[in-house]
Amino acid sequence: MEEAPVVVIVWNTNENGWITEEHSVAAAIQNICLRAHDLGLGSLWIGDVFYAYEETRQYFGKEWKLSGAVALGYPAAEGRVPKKLRLEEVAEFLS
Ligand SMILES: Cc1cc2nc3c(=O)[nH]c(=O)nc-3n(C[C@H](O)[C@H](O)[C@H](O)COP(=O)(O)O)c2cc1C
Repeated sequence: MEEAPVVVIVWNTNENGWITEEHSVAAAIQNICLRAHDLGLGSLWIGDVFYAYEETRQYFGKEWKLSGAVALGYPAAEGRVPKKLRLEEVAEFLS
């Protein structure tokens, strides 16, 4: 995070009070990463912001839920496609 030229801090305002609002935030983060890729940028989804949860909220003066962060920058190296699990390893089909 210290080295990235841009770090997006992602908040969940939870304005409707729905538990599922966190799903929307996760989808938004995914879209940030996909758009970054489109633009030739590298991105890193960071969930490890929770170790400084209160400090981060205080620093930015926000009452919202801290959801994560996304580091963005031009990649130093070509990315590799990670090994995918087989469909049977991630899904169960009921008949
Ligand atoms: C919800 C979520 C949280 C993540 N949090 C972190 C994190 O805190 N630190 C980290 O190094 N990678 C984290 N990652 C993983 C990276 O964002 C990235 O997916 C991982 O480095 C694999 O990259 P690659 O698939 O391009 O190799 C997280 C991924 C997800 C989906």
